[in-house]
Amino acid sequence: MKKIVLGTIFAAATAATLSAASLAACAGCHGAKMEKAALGKSQIIAGWDEAKTIAALKGYKDGSYGGAMKGVMKGQVARLSDADIADLAKQIAAMK
Ligand code: HEC
Repeated sequence: MKKIVLGTIFAAATAATLSAASLAACAGCHGAKMEKAALGKSQIIAGWDEAKTIAALKGYKDGSYGGAMKGVMKGQVARLSDADIADLAKQIAAMK
């Protein structure tokens, strides 16, 4: 599992030179430093472990994760690739 996650991160780092996924699209709800509870409902995700964020975002994508407002996040992650998700998770983990 750990190897798979690391591999994904390396792939994301390579892809990032071409198109880094941007947290700007998330800042409106989660805050510029991911320090807010989005729409007053989400957990504060700043500093979340990469694996935890990746699991949550993939879960929103396939419908296996989330609370009452998961529909909001499904729309956010639908167009993200696995590499984009890994890249975003890395940036979120760096915010503390
Ligand atoms: C329109 C507002 C909005 C935007 C934009 C948005 N989110 Fe969210 N996010 C939410 C809400 C509301 C929740 C809680 C949903 C639920 O009930 O599970 C959430 C939950 C999350 C969670 C899980 C936290 C938890 O409470 O379990 C993560 C991780 C996350 N968002 C990351 C992102 C990322 C990364 C982006 C940008 C690609 C983003 N969000 C964009 C509103 C937003």
